[in-house]
Amino acid sequence: MENKLIVSLDVPNLKIAEKLLDELCPLVETFKVGSQLFTAEGPKIIDLIHKKEKKVFLDLKFHDIPHTVAETARVATALGVFMFNVHSAGGFEMMRAATTAAKKEAERLKIKKPLILGVTLLTSFNQQMLTETGVTKKIEEYVLQLAQQAKEAALDGIVASPQELKFLREKLGKDFIMVSPGIRLQVTRYPLSATRFREDDQKRISTPAEAIKDGADYIVVGRPIINTKSPIEAAKKIIKEMKE
Ligand code: C5P
Repeated sequence: MENKLIVSLDVPNLKIAEKLLDELCPLVETFKVGSQLFTAEGPKIIDLIHKKEKKVFLDLKFHDIPHTVAETARVATALGVFMFNVHSAGGFEMMRAATTAAKKEAERLKIKKPLILGVTLLTSFNQQMLTETGVTKKIEEYVLQLAQQAKEAALDGIVASPQELKFLREKLGKDFIMVSPGIRLQVTRYPLSATRFREDDQKRISTPAEAIKDGADYIVVGRPIINTKSPIEAAKKIIKEMKE
């Protein structure tokens, strides 16, 4: 179960990232580098994680014309990351260009091709926010359409809300990788019957246990770990919940 937890290093610089890495390395196998840290530090952060013999999920959610995304996929592959992602809304051609380029580059360098994931609909969206973008479909329908396109384009999997995992797993089969952010621990509130989540900006959330039960191959957790007094204790708690 330990290997299913990906910790999101959503911090401003290398120094803070290294402190977190050193604390979490005994427990965590894969770290996610997103646009904040990558914009600040560039490939240095990838090298640092690799030096500590850990894997990188490069979460830059590429979304551009197919040629640009293909060239970027080539560079991400050469960095030796374990996985990276593109926005499925970028379309079939763009996703296909990314997989083809990554495959060719991995063959050329004689390394393993990174897993490429399609981001379906961000977990910070609810139905009203989706409608406001001009998409009139229901969230489930829209997410399924994006996920199916990702599969047709030979991506290895998707990033999806834990709330959609069960139904996506049924539709997409068991070999398609599903990664879920939007993970929150339940906080018990008095009276005891009432529970609440600290949601932050996330909308379509679940607990670690539910996400795993519903078929997540990996869960991505940021603030519930990195914004606590003891990130290692928070990570332990999440792993314990995943096992339940
Ligand atoms: O702090 P929190 O656990 O909400 O962090 C979730 C992380 O996962 C953030 O880095 C966010 O950018 C990322 N993410 C997401 N939804 C997606 C893809 C990535 O929240 N669909």
